[in-house]
Amino acid sequence: MTTHHPRCDATAAWAALQGHWQAHGRELDLREAFARDPGRFNAFSVQAPEVFADLSKNLIDTATLHFLLDLARECGLEARRDAMLRGEPINRTEGRAVLHTALRAPAGAATPFNAEVHGVLAAMLAYAEQVRADEHITDIVNIGIGGSDLGPQMVVPALDAFAHRGKRLHFVSNVDGHDITPVLRGLDPERTLFIVASKTFTTQETMANAAVAREWFLQQGGTDIARHFAATTTNVAAAAQFGITTTFGFWDWVGGRYSLWSAIGLPIAIAVGADNFRALLAGAHAMDRHFAEAPLANNLPVLLGLLDVWYRNFHGFTSRSVAPYHQGLARLPAYLQQLEMESNGKRVDMQGQPLPYATSPVVWGEPGTNGQHAYFQMLHQGTGVVPVEFIAVKTPSHTHADLHAKLLANCLAQSQALMLGKTAAEAAAEKAPTAAADIAPAVLARHRSFPGNRPSTTLLLAALTPHSLGALIAMYEHRVFTSGALWGINSFDQWGVELGKALCSQLLPRLASGDTTGLDASTAGLLAKLHSA
Ligand code: F6P
Repeated sequence: MTTHHPRCDATAAWAALQGHWQAHGRELDLREAFARDPGRFNAFSVQAPEVFADLSKNLIDTATLHFLLDLARECGLEARRDAMLRGEPINRTEGRAVLHTALRAPAGAATPFNAEVHGVLAAMLAYAEQVRADEHITDIVNIGIGGSDLGPQMVVPALDAFAHRGKRLHFVSNVDGHDITPVLRGLDPERTLFIVASKTFTTQETMANAAVAREWFLQQGGTDIARHFAATTTNVAAAAQFGITTTFGFWDWVGGRYSLWSAIGLPIAIAVGADNFRALLAGAHAMDRHFAEAPLANNLPVLLGLLDVWYRNFHGFTSRSVAPYHQGLARLPAYLQQLEMESNGKRVDMQGQPLPYATSPVVWGEPGTNGQHAYFQMLHQGTGVVPVEFIAVKTPSHTHADLHAKLLANCLAQSQALMLGKTAAEAAAEKAPTAAADIAPAVLARHRSFPGNRPSTTLLLAALTPHSLGALIAMYEHRVFTSGALWGINSFDQWGVELGKALCSQLLPRLASGDTTGLDASTAGLLAKLHSA
């Protein structure tokens, strides 16, 4: 069943938002807003399962939120969400349902494919426990790329405090031999388990690295492929053809970038064990219920998705920076780049019509204070505005209380500095640092001033646990769904990666032959340089 819901720009709320933007929305000053309303923090903060969000340092007021919520209703967000959760084939360009939420529903829930999901989950977790108990296996190498890499690669270090100390996890994704070579160098074939992770089991990079791993294994005297290789895939037949007999499957309704909850999560389960993997799923499920049941005005993924639309389409901000103040979340920005930009980096609507407005922002970032000593200069004083998303964790899993206090103070200071700024007069009133003799104090003060009024969101977790991490990741998934639904795009296909793959297949034999016939002059010139002796 497909019900037609209007695209965001065809709604009355969109027109109302444009009027609001022109009238005063674009001029909102955070410092004035806080001075006017002592209740602003409470009014614009939300407690979702495991995640507290302070949205008060965003460029919104009650009217902005009112119109954005109207927009969500007019675009049929709730009906679209319910259609996804019911398992309708909302990924229409691939003719598939979108049911990553079914992967974390508890056993016995009335969700689609519940018995199948729990059958594979139990088998995968039993195997993970078997590997954890096997003292002869010390190294696990996950070979996969994109969604078959980024989720486990992000989650395993995030849950380091919960990890089995006798197992080293390695991740090989790039078809560049500089990725797998140093990993293999340190390994003993008899103590290594390779997991070939690929939804399709056809991805060039993964198949090439898996072949290298198998060749290395045999050359090193390894014999028992069945014991030392496992696969996680929807293409069990192709895995068997490769020689892998231990295979955990999943389904076409699990998108690659939404797949860490499926068998693709095997490296996570080996690292942290079955109970912690189940806690990760339970945390995600708690966020699923919040997304499904909380009123829109109090629904965190919805509010974040609406902010994305407000910033991208009204303020015209082109990117969002994610700043996790937890080293374990170092790969979260990379994970979010696939989740958000592969999902919402689209330029036509569901009917194939070109969109007259922008969609996915660029998502980027680095862990907390490292970013401060690199690109935060641009965030504070650059010409463009980049909304920043701070992620802080109240209780660390280490014992260095002093380090943690400094980390949290840095996190709070950055969002404060972005908002408050510093006028040239304030800078001039400070004791001037040494500058060139011919630079006037007023000029120096302008260099040292900050515009302020730069927006940020702060997300707080009580602790980084399997449960809270599951909730945090699911929050991001539903946020992407929200903005994608309003933009009227298909957030669940990825046709944009196909052209490069096809051209790569055509160029590969030419690299060997040096044949440049019919190529554009640039590609021909580069290929000739790479081919020449
Ligand atoms: O790069 C495109 C893509 O299809 C991603 O969507 C996916 O996560 C990745 O390749 C890997 O695909 P597979 O799991 O089939 O190897």
